[in-house]
Amino acid sequence: MKKTFYITTPIYYPSANAHVGHSYTTVVCDTMARLKRMQGFDVMFLTGTDEHGQKIETSAKATGKTPKEYVDEIVAGFQRLWKRMDITYDRFIRTTDDYHIESVQKIFKTLYDKGEIYKSVYKGAYCKPCESFWTDSQLVDGKCPDCGRDVEQAEEEAYFFRLSSYGDRIMKLYEEHPEFLQPQARVNEMVNNFLKPGLEDLCVSRTSFTWGVPVDFDPGHVVYVWIDALSNYITALGYGNDRYNDFDKYWPADFHLMSKEIVRFHTIIWPSILMALELPLPKRVYSHGWLLFGGDKMSKSKGNVVDPYVLCDRYGVDAIRYFLLRDVPFGQDGNFTNEALIQRINSDLANDLGNLVSRTVAMVEKYFGGTLPTDRQPGDFDDDLIAQISGLYDRVNTLAEDLQFPTALTEIFRVIARTNKYIDETTPWVLAKDEANNARLATVMYNLLEAIRVLGVLLSPFLPETAPKIFAQIGAAEAVTTWESANTFGMLPQNVTVKKGDALFPRIDMEKELAELEALGAAKAAPKAEEKPVKAEVEGVASLIDIDDFAKVELRVAEIVACEPVPKADKLLKIQLDDGAGGRQVVSGIHTWYEPADLIGKKIILVANLKPAKLRGVESQGMLLAADAGDAVKVIFADLQIPAGSKVR
Ligand code: MSP
Repeated sequence: MKKTFYITTPIYYPSANAHVGHSYTTVVCDTMARLKRMQGFDVMFLTGTDEHGQKIETSAKATGKTPKEYVDEIVAGFQRLWKRMDITYDRFIRTTDDYHIESVQKIFKTLYDKGEIYKSVYKGAYCKPCESFWTDSQLVDGKCPDCGRDVEQAEEEAYFFRLSSYGDRIMKLYEEHPEFLQPQARVNEMVNNFLKPGLEDLCVSRTSFTWGVPVDFDPGHVVYVWIDALSNYITALGYGNDRYNDFDKYWPADFHLMSKEIVRFHTIIWPSILMALELPLPKRVYSHGWLLFGGDKMSKSKGNVVDPYVLCDRYGVDAIRYFLLRDVPFGQDGNFTNEALIQRINSDLANDLGNLVSRTVAMVEKYFGGTLPTDRQPGDFDDDLIAQISGLYDRVNTLAEDLQFPTALTEIFRVIARTNKYIDETTPWVLAKDEANNARLATVMYNLLEAIRVLGVLLSPFLPETAPKIFAQIGAAEAVTTWESANTFGMLPQNVTVKKGDALFPRIDMEKELAELEALGAAKAAPKAEEKPVKAEVEGVASLIDIDDFAKVELRVAEIVACEPVPKADKLLKIQLDDGAGGRQVVSGIHTWYEPADLIGKKIILVANLKPAKLRGVESQGMLLAADAGDAVKVIFADLQIPAGSKVR
């Protein structure tokens, strides 16, 4: 029977406007899942969405939708994104799925029956946005330790989980299993910030909202966040439900992966719940850092284009995956800029990898018509190249096992550089001048093709779209592209036939591209008034479009909740909108005609799926519709009765 490997991402909150940072955890997990599948494991890769809570209930209400309608749309967006990014999850759990709800109810009841959950009254500091109660000792300067916002005093009847009785056992877990939580710095954080000061019992139900899992034996209470969200890792395998039946097969998880702000959930609360349920604990929890945008975790500032769809369309999915896996030091924060991304594409992917493949294939075509002759003549530099290639399999395996993907890629690209150097050392173009050198030339070409094959195999989990293209060009059949095949040099047939293909990663002109990105942002946010339709097929109307073209534009009613001039930009107003999906900001060039007071409280029509852009350094997430009225511009206001978020069609 195959060995199993169970890996999870956190389940995502349904928030609109996913940026490239959101995809980081998922891309890392996907790479590991692909690697393990190639290594012959029976993999379960789980991701999903965390859909309950007060915030969702409130946002849904504002849009006039039910919470379920509201989350359905956003969750579909996440699923589209994962498809676009070639994410090969095996299962997608939604905490609103019936089977999950059934399991959570059973878990809650089991814990209650065991005396692990009890009813009491909660009085304390509550952070509404984080849906968390905090003890006074946990507050930082009187504010929420997670988000830094103000907390309020709250009191309500609630169920509590006896977290306080698990401190010693969690401490022992860290001591006895140093591999449980990595990197080590996070262990110190958990011990010093939470375990040493002493754990408090955890509030696990609420009565002041309804969008959670109902406590079936006590109407009015709903289970939210902790027991609802964390249990997804076992309910998705069928724990407490009949929907799935692989709990015994996959649990305990081999890897829970997440970023640092939710480590406490996964390494204190989650193991305590599992201990209370007398279930085995996950084998490893790995916390990665944040992808920062100019020092910020969110994508608000610095004017980079961070929409994963735009990035994938412009550079290809593999380039984005490569940047995330190579440039973010694992476990630490990494910085995202469009410039750094383009730099990586040009230097590593286009120059080193792309050139190696295209030069080699072009030479085999030029010198041998595409098919290698079988006579061989070993020579200088061969042994070193072969030794470098042969050592790579073990090194990549070891590094990848610990999720050290940046180092694994650095190693692979070091050998790519070595292989490029082999071309310079052996000077095939000189050998080609004399037919007497044919056997030597064929050997050099074979060694290059073999090196590329091994490198392509080892790159497969990281560059899943590119690896098959490489194999097609160097004539590598499936049998010689398995993971273990990278451990043997000399698997390609001696008379292999190559086939030139398109450049794997066309080089990007940095200056031109950055200018285009800037223009793209600006153009999307503010279409120029002077732009005239190219062709008028109906008098007074621009060229005709299909209904499908129109359907691409997502128009929504939104309410202007705040508005202020953009400093040093006379014509621009910065407008905060309630768009029914958590709110957004747009910048609009209408200050000549409107003052903030004219706009606040009004409803407008928003182009909701416009790519974000920067106007005078201020992010604009969409645009509002306005009409040219002679020399003036008039905003199109919508009926105030229409709820924010309503679709316009
Ligand atoms: N719903 C909780 C998790 C519950 S798990 C039982 C949650 N959701 S989240 O949507 O806020 O985050 C999901 C994942 O995306 C987390 O690992 C989070 O840190 C990651 N990221 C979101 N923005 C990120 C960056 N800018 N950089 C790296 N990861 C980021 O937390």
